[in-house]
Amino acid sequence: TLLHEELSGDEVLVVSNREPYLHTRTRNGIEVQRPASGLITAVEPVMRACSGTWIAHGSGSADKESVDRNDRVAVPPSNPSYTLRRVWLTKEEEQGYYYGFANEGLWPLCHIAHVRPVFRSTDWEQYEAVNQRFADAVVREARTDDPVVLVQDYHFALLPRMVREQLPKATIITFWHIPWPNSESFGICPWREELLDGLLGSTILGFHTPFHCKNFLETVDRYLETRIEHESGTISFGGKLTQVEQYPISIAWPDGDANMPTVAECRSSVRAEHGMSHDHLLAVGVDRLDYTKGIIERFQAVERMLELHPNLIGRFSMIQIAAPTRSSLDEYQNFEARVRALVQRINNRFGNGNYLPIILKAEHHGSDQVTRYYRAAEVCMVTSLHDGMNLVAKEFIASRYDDRGVLVLSQFTGAARELPEALVVNPYHIEQSADALYRAVTMPEIEQCERMRSMRSLVKDFNIYRWAGRMLLDAARVRQRERVVTKIR
Ligand code: F6P
Repeated sequence: TLLHEELSGDEVLVVSNREPYLHTRTRNGIEVQRPASGLITAVEPVMRACSGTWIAHGSGSADKESVDRNDRVAVPPSNPSYTLRRVWLTKEEEQGYYYGFANEGLWPLCHIAHVRPVFRSTDWEQYEAVNQRFADAVVREARTDDPVVLVQDYHFALLPRMVREQLPKATIITFWHIPWPNSESFGICPWREELLDGLLGSTILGFHTPFHCKNFLETVDRYLETRIEHESGTISFGGKLTQVEQYPISIAWPDGDANMPTVAECRSSVRAEHGMSHDHLLAVGVDRLDYTKGIIERFQAVERMLELHPNLIGRFSMIQIAAPTRSSLDEYQNFEARVRALVQRINNRFGNGNYLPIILKAEHHGSDQVTRYYRAAEVCMVTSLHDGMNLVAKEFIASRYDDRGVLVLSQFTGAARELPEALVVNPYHIEQSADALYRAVTMPEIEQCERMRSMRSLVKDFNIYRWAGRMLLDAARVRQRERVVTKIR
């Protein structure tokens, strides 16, 4: 209802690289999966609530191969409520725009994980061309000349300007889901001015934290001729205003998960599946297999804890769910090999035929399966080296209706700003994380309960509808102001 009020009948178009549903061909026919993506977790419930059209890269193998692939499908499959419009990319486009410029260039540029970005002119050309293709798709899909366009993430930095040129009256809200680095770091990108110019085609530009907003304003100040009001976060460029604002992203609060197994059922079934006793202590990690997530540091912390507290050997395990991601890139292949080698070394050191301290499940898991692990575990570990928000932290909290369980949370996530009741750690400091993990597995129930209740009340209130609602409300104000100004003129 809140979203409908903010939108008051306006047309909504979302643009993202990742599509909300993947159709994959399997031996049992076509299977529909939800991809492992914080962005999808957040934006999908918003689209269900306000319908409209979602434009994304058609990446599912089933549709790619079929001759009469469908450009438009009604989704979600179980209860269609909005349109998914797929843009099909060639191998070269996907390689240059997605793997190359977005994930070998911008991803390491914006995350401080000490992986050097790679910038190639050929990737940049594909990035520009694909941004133009998506911008054209927005214009073709729009039924009105002033739609609300929600642009998602670093795959589309150029698109806001491209849409603005063709639909000058559109309200373009761009949300950058990853951190924005300081101006000096950003400055190493050979196309820094073009990216900034592209983003300033937006009416509103959102980041997760005030710190990322400040970094962005300083970057613009340094590389473009603009007028900036730092206090209000407005940038005036070429006679147009862009409002820079923080909108910490969140999740949909689960209201009716009556079909899900209870905490007690999850505890016992997960332990039984792994041949563990009912009082075996469990920590869980849920990530894409990405070098920014601090998975190696997390396992090192487990190792250190077992070194310091040998009484936990045989009594504690960490289950790591790691969804494969961007696996055709060398950096990701090397990372996966390092993770696997470390798991093997730690398991050889402390494990035996019946006991594994680290259980690595390097495959995609659906959200119900993930919830089972959240509910089964004593602890959830989020140790990202750098992360825009991190929604795993919030999903874990939302799943613990029993007010139990402890969150160990990296100070380098956006979530740490909102959740000081977690055990906040510096993931680079292995001793500190090991201590926090030990404190978490031995925390008295009363303390768990106090911390968890407080975190649950925050995540419940500041849910995904608030995130979207605040952006749309700000957009509605801008639209209203523009209407008044046009009338006066
Ligand atoms: O949340 C950041 C993000 O890059 C999203 O933009 C993206 O959907 C997600 O991580 C997963 O990455 P990918 O879409 O490349 O698999």
